Amino acid sequence: MKPRIFSGVQPSGNLHIGNYLGAIQQWVQLQDEYEALFCIVDLHAITVAQNPEELRRRTFEIAKTYIALGIDPEKSHIFVQSYVKEHTELAWILNTLTKNGDLTKMTQFKSKTGVDFEESEGSVSFQEMKERFNSVGVGLFDYPVLMASDILLYDTNCVPVGDDQMQHLELTRTLARRFNKRFGETFIIPETRVLQDGSRIMGLDDAHKKMSKSALSEYNYIALHDELEMAKKKIMKAKTDSGLDITYSEDRPELKNLLTIFALLEKVSPEEIVLRYKGKGYADFKKGLALTVFSFLEAFQNKYATISDEEVRKVLYKGAEYASRIAQEKMKNVREKVGFWQ
Ligand code: AMP
Ligand code: TRP
Repeated sequence: MKPRIFSGVQPSGNLHIGNYLGAIQQWVQLQDEYEALFCIVDLHAITVAQNPEELRRRTFEIAKTYIALGIDPEKSHIFVQSYVKEHTELAWILNTLTKNGDLTKMTQFKSKTGVDFEESEGSVSFQEMKERFNSVGVGLFDYPVLMASDILLYDTNCVPVGDDQMQHLELTRTLARRFNKRFGETFIIPETRVLQDGSRIMGLDDAHKKMSKSALSEYNYIALHDELEMAKKKIMKAKTDSGLDITYSEDRPELKNLLTIFALLEKVSPEEIVLRYKGKGYADFKKGLALTVFSFLEAFQNKYATISDEEVRKVLYKGAEYASRIAQEKMKNVREKVGFWQ
């Protein structure tokens, strides 16, 4: 039996090349070696308000995007999280093993909400922090517990994600251990898998913040559905330092980021790209990168256009059926352990 991987993306905005290079490209490579489950996590998306029609449309589009990026539905199982009810059931049970303090220390929660109780000793008053906390939705606070459920439900061995998810994975392991200790061996302790390069693609307009679909400026990211000319323009406008040559180093973060994107898209090492542009300047380098991005997006968008809605629907039903079988069996065991009458 092959070991299992599980991962997911929220249908809450446009996917960008950071999502692809940090997460989905890994999935494509791993689907032969592992039994793979790829989820569209709509229950996570509604932790911030979504327009219902848009959510439904985006959920479907993400499934099509997975396939267009190279997830092969003959090998991997693609499904929608809310379709498999066991995710929320397990989340409730894991909630009873989670402390508020486990969740207030989550970096993603802190940065999304501005709630950081450690900071209340510094610049922000305790009163202000309390007000911020009181206005945050419980779903957003509880988000990592639902994510732990997604993973543990399937006896997942390995979770390929970008590095912003590492702390959530750490909590997942903690909750699995707590459950196992209290009720007996039930859950596998999953590993995190992040890339050495590319686990954090930075913004094109600011190399100190990660590329994000919720960025204020559209010059921060290259969306997979960007018009090709627009994507080129974004590369040409990407911020760089005032150096003349092309080198890969920590103290040139803008250039390092562009080199990482270039190398990952071409599946070569950054050093190889550096060598290619030896003696040349930024203009040539950016033109080369723009061309590579252009070809990648063009191939993706052409493939996307050939996938029918009917095909995606079939893939999602089949995926949900497969996932449900595993999830139902697991929950039977969990209910037994917890002491539910069944
Ligand atoms: P999200 O868009 O937050 O649902 O993220 C989906 C996946 O993409 C997760 O595995 C993230 O870690 C990954 N990801 C998101 N943004 C980036 C980025 N800028 N660089 C690398 N990976 C990313
Ligand atoms: N929290 C992840 C993100 O924002 C999405 C996610 C939800 C996920 N459940 C998961 C990723 C389970 C991996 C495994 O990117």
